[in-house]
Amino acid sequence: MRNSSNPNRRKFIRTSSAIGAGLVLGRPFELRATPFSFNDKVRLGVVGCGGRGRGVIFSNIPKIPSAHLVAVCDIIPSRRENAVARFKEEYGITVQSYEDFYDMLEKEELDAIVLTTPDFWHMQHAVDAMEAGLHVYCEKAMSNNIEDARKMAEGMKRTGKLLQIGRQRRSNDRYRFTHQVLLEKENMFGRLTHAIGQWNRSRIWTQQPNKQDKFNIKQLERYGFETVAQDYNWRNYKALGGGVVSDLGSHQIDIFNWFLGAYPHTVYATGNNSYFKHEQADTMATILEYDTPKGPAIGIYENISNSRAIGVYERFVGDDGAFIISEGKDNKIYRESRVKAKRWQRYINAGYISNLADMQKYQEEEAGDSGIKETAPQFSYDIKNMVDMDRVYNLQSHTAHLYNFVETVRGEETLNYDAITSYKSEVCIYKIHEAINANGGRIVIDPSEYEV
Ligand SMILES: NC(=O)c1ccc[n+]([C@@H]2O[C@H](COP(=O)([O-])OP(=O)(O)OC[C@H]3O[C@@H](n4cnc5c(N)ncnc54)[C@H](O)[C@@H]3O)[C@@H](O)[C@H]2O)c1
Repeated sequence: MRNSSNPNRRKFIRTSSAIGAGLVLGRPFELRATPFSFNDKVRLGVVGCGGRGRGVIFSNIPKIPSAHLVAVCDIIPSRRENAVARFKEEYGITVQSYEDFYDMLEKEELDAIVLTTPDFWHMQHAVDAMEAGLHVYCEKAMSNNIEDARKMAEGMKRTGKLLQIGRQRRSNDRYRFTHQVLLEKENMFGRLTHAIGQWNRSRIWTQQPNKQDKFNIKQLERYGFETVAQDYNWRNYKALGGGVVSDLGSHQIDIFNWFLGAYPHTVYATGNNSYFKHEQADTMATILEYDTPKGPAIGIYENISNSRAIGVYERFVGDDGAFIISEGKDNKIYRESRVKAKRWQRYINAGYISNLADMQKYQEEEAGDSGIKETAPQFSYDIKNMVDMDRVYNLQSHTAHLYNFVETVRGEETLNYDAITSYKSEVCIYKIHEAINANGGRIVIDPSEYEV
């Protein structure tokens, strides 16, 4: 086990920085790698105990045997204290709590940190942690601007530390199976020509301050917030977050890029805040143009905030078939009528998709054929049938994604979604922002902009 008098304790000094008015930032001055023993648990500190932070602390970490929560950090006292009290109550484990990230790094012996803070904080904490020899799991989006996202990808490359970004669909068994087996191994749908997606909600994200907290505005300013409302609802401010495009769209447009095997060369986008009147657009639509290895493709994506009708999904259309995929219930595979049932029988025989009783009503010769044959839902609901994969996690996707990170720290896996891969997807997200902020427009992305 780890020696508690480990000489490799990371030390930090505080320096002022030009980033943000009055922010107190730290710089590491001691940089030594901690040898990691296979049997050790990965010692984690979680920064940000809001919605996602609580998910990490209570729903993800306890399900990962090789993860050990050592400390939590939040600038809101009730959030960090409630996290400590609840963790003690539920798991009998005492974790330390901090207001300040750099205090935590200085005092605790950590292997890695999990950043679940607002997007505009991610770069500084991630880069400083990596410079100090720690690995980082950072929630999406990497940042709210392209320059900081790039610094994170460069930081990972420079330090050689791990930086996984929290787009958990990359560790979702169903998504990985579709990519690895149906698309890459089998080319089941032929050339994909369209990716269509949406995430519609009937509200915009807002949180109410906890009345038990006494906020000091000077303290909040040290952390980059001008008001209490900004700390709770940072998503809606252009300087702090990325609104619906980063929050929701970045998950799904990343899937477009992954499955199409390319990044868009041109984006068109428009949006407005006519419904909720926050700084960020609450309604947006974008068209993305791709040159994929198999030919041109188009992406179409939207966010609506006044109706959750038809919900959340990504849909792909190819020459031989189409599919809808989501983290929810919308999952189905369709065969084009020109593709004979006999040809797809091998996918059924392999156990990849089911062709159960209801398939009988879609006989090839059936009168009134609309041109589309619909299969029963893909076997991906039952992970026992996800055959021919490198591995199946059988975990809720947030847990699987953090598990993949923790096990990579231990040398047991490789990252499913490192910062350089994420940066490429974020480039087009920031370009979409740019187009929306310019009241709509077309932006051409030079291939060099995707390089790190
Ligand atoms: N992958 C996903 O599905 C998913 C889901 C939700 C949120 N997220 C991401 O997680 C991050 C957090 O989102 P959230 O919904 O939990 O937000 P939140 O507002 O609920 O929580 C953020 C917390 O960070 C704290 N904080 C702010 N600045 C800090 C600082 N400098 N040091 C320490 N604590 C600080 C805040 O006080 C707050 O408690 C965002 O990047 C968001 O995009 C990802």
